[in-house]
Amino acid sequence: MKGHDIVEQNIGLMTILAVIAISFGGLVEIVPQFFLKETTTPIEGLKPLPAVVLEGRDIYIREGCHVCHTQMVRPLRAEIERYGHYSVAGESVYEHPFLWGSKRTGPDLARVGKRYSDDWQKAHLYNPRSVVPESIMPAFPWLNDNLLDGKHTGDKMAALRSVGVPYTDADIAGAQQAVKGVTEMDALVAYLQQLGTLLTEKR
Ligand code: HEC
Repeated sequence: MKGHDIVEQNIGLMTILAVIAISFGGLVEIVPQFFLKETTTPIEGLKPLPAVVLEGRDIYIREGCHVCHTQMVRPLRAEIERYGHYSVAGESVYEHPFLWGSKRTGPDLARVGKRYSDDWQKAHLYNPRSVVPESIMPAFPWLNDNLLDGKHTGDKMAALRSVGVPYTDADIAGAQQAVKGVTEMDALVAYLQQLGTLLTEKR
């Protein structure tokens, strides 16, 4: 029997060799990314999200905004014309989990920061049809009524610090005080208004 016959007639051996071949291909593509400076170095000016903004991000996740909105401008002409500078890896090094997404029911939000006023954002979230009559986005009116208590904000920061986000002891100690009593609406809008603002010029 030739070598190839042995493999083809022994399903166990073939499975093991196939797994090795596929893992090798995957590792060669994925592992270098962990060590590339471009993908692991924060862009200039990137800071960990302040307490209120961090809570806003969690509300964004809780309400499923990421299910309809991506945060990833691809390096294609049409996208850059519409949204601004394409997304770079250094913008997301403090994001755990990242919210790039791939499903766009609504527009990409990677660069939505400062595109609209705070008042527009609040009116839109309270009832999207009040500012965009043809909108199919759901309304989130309860955000105005819910207040943050900040009980776990410091814990969240400590958890993020353990995976490399440079929060200081002072950030963590002051977290609860910083968010206590803020409405969920204000926190979410604070989060939206800073999205993508570090890199906004068009290319
Ligand atoms: C069911 C899908 C869906 C969900 C869930 C959703 N949106 Fe939207 N969103 C849309 C659609 C569609 C539009 C475009 C129409 C409009 O502007 O209302 C939009 C528009 C927007 C815009 C304006 C973007 C622009 O560039 O004009 C913002 C900001 C936004 N959504 C934020 C949010 C936030 C924050 C949440 C979560 C609280 C959310 N959306 C949840 C579908 C969705």
